[in-house]
Amino acid sequence: MSTKKEKIEILEKKNAESLLGGGEARIESQHKKGKLTARERVELLLDPGSFEEIGKFVMHRCKDFGLEKQHFLGDGVVTGYGTVNNRLIYVFSQDFTVFGGSLSETHAEKIVKIMELAMKNGAPLIGLNDSGGARIQEGVVSLGGYADIFYRNTLASGVIPQISAIMGPCAGGAVYSPAITDFILMVENTSYMFVTGPNVVKTVTQEDVSAEDLGGASTHSTKSGVTHFSCANEVECINNIKALLSYMPQNCEDDAPMVAYESNGDEKVKALNDIVPENPNQPYDMREVIDGLVDPQSFMEVHKNFADNIVVGFARIGGRSIGVVGNQPASLAGVLDIDSSTKGARFVRFCDCFNIPLLVLEDVPGFLPGTDQEWNAIITNGAKLLYAFSEATVPRITVITRKAYGGAYDVMNSKHIGADMNYAWPQAEIAVMGAKGAAEIIFKKEIAEADDSEAKLQEKVDEYTQKFANPYRAAHRGYIDEVIMPENTRAKLIRAFKMLENKVATLPKKKHGNIPL
Ligand code: HXC
Repeated sequence: MSTKKEKIEILEKKNAESLLGGGEARIESQHKKGKLTARERVELLLDPGSFEEIGKFVMHRCKDFGLEKQHFLGDGVVTGYGTVNNRLIYVFSQDFTVFGGSLSETHAEKIVKIMELAMKNGAPLIGLNDSGGARIQEGVVSLGGYADIFYRNTLASGVIPQISAIMGPCAGGAVYSPAITDFILMVENTSYMFVTGPNVVKTVTQEDVSAEDLGGASTHSTKSGVTHFSCANEVECINNIKALLSYMPQNCEDDAPMVAYESNGDEKVKALNDIVPENPNQPYDMREVIDGLVDPQSFMEVHKNFADNIVVGFARIGGRSIGVVGNQPASLAGVLDIDSSTKGARFVRFCDCFNIPLLVLEDVPGFLPGTDQEWNAIITNGAKLLYAFSEATVPRITVITRKAYGGAYDVMNSKHIGADMNYAWPQAEIAVMGAKGAAEIIFKKEIAEADDSEAKLQEKVDEYTQKFANPYRAAHRGYIDEVIMPENTRAKLIRAFKMLENKVATLPKKKHGNIPL
């Protein structure tokens, strides 16, 4: 019979063993790769001393391939809860030092346990991924574990925010858990994500590609758009997670946190008057408009390097968390295409899931023409953005800074699809199409028959411009609530978002809609 003292020693020994994961040598090897350990990551993420671990002594049950002789307490994943800026979150952090962070039946059970707690208690779930995939020795049991996680990711979607950081390998089916979550962050040079790795790619398609080129942070933040943030290192990655959380509510029934805001009584921003150039075809950076409108340094851009003809991100205005969606005239004239529509739609849906009001800044000449766009389904993809705005019930405000042409006028949070307040700046042009194109179509005969066709065309272009390239036709109809000076826009927005803070809007009763995927 062990004494009480001996029993306590056993506990202490087990605790110490579990803290070491796969052991000193593997921890050193992890550090040599420029990576932190699973526990170091959790410590960085959470408020000091707030971590409560769950399942520290869990062990795998595999009896094949010699695994019965190899046990590591915790089985390759650190799970539990704690606080970030005093707000509860649940976290799992895969431990690459234990069987390469590979996912066993018990590893999956630990993750599922905290996912269920996160859902029941309404708090965000953060997954720190660093894993060689399915625990090969366990076979289908491991695949079952993945599916258990995917299923709960899906059930949790729209209930609690879910954020995934990729801090090492994430390959095969394992990629689908992060893919279902709301945001993915990747660390440059030490992480990658792909469904099939470079060797399989080589066999099947004869392409020679490195892991980094195939699925590194740079690839996924620029080419595929799979990741929302490409981070220079793990510390930056974790800081980004904390910043993201600061804009979000705990769950879908909660409001995003307000930050204390003291107005100096004058919200005029003169600099906004000078951003839109005199020449309607000259680009400008919509980020300058955003910076002028929102609280200082509060804009956190999401998906920065992907589809940069649309800008999306979180910000605060008068201390209130908002989602901003802006066309970007500095890239492709701010045109809507497949990638920008998908990017915008996904962001709008996140904000709507979690009660984050939307501010839309519009300067859009229309949809991008071309076979590439048509053959790759700009129709279906453009419809995603239209659908996302149309079904959003959060407070929605649009400011047309310059162009609002064609179908894109309707899509970009117009009054007709449920926006609450629609403003336009004096230089706004709201019309079916640009004046030249319009004149060429509707006055085709007249122009052709004129002695001087060029002069006639110009006359008709001027006439169309005079009539339609302004915000007043729309304002006469009430499609625009007010034409405002850029310098007054911040003050108007602060008031309007406050006015809308108790908005109640419901959708028709349904099982769920059928967004064009
Ligand atoms: C069991 C694994 C493992 C795995 C790695 N290890 N992956 N153990 N199952 N999937 C173990 C190694 O044996 C080694 O153990 C330790 O983890 C570190 O691995 P290394 O190979 O030494 O590390 P490194 O050189 O950094 O390479 C990392 C790696 C490589 C690229 C991830 O290990 C690898 O290719 N692993 C296999 C990946 C894979 O094919 N997974 C299955 C994919 S299919 P020791 O004891 O030496 O420390 C899949 C399907 C999911 O995941 C489907 C869901 C629907």
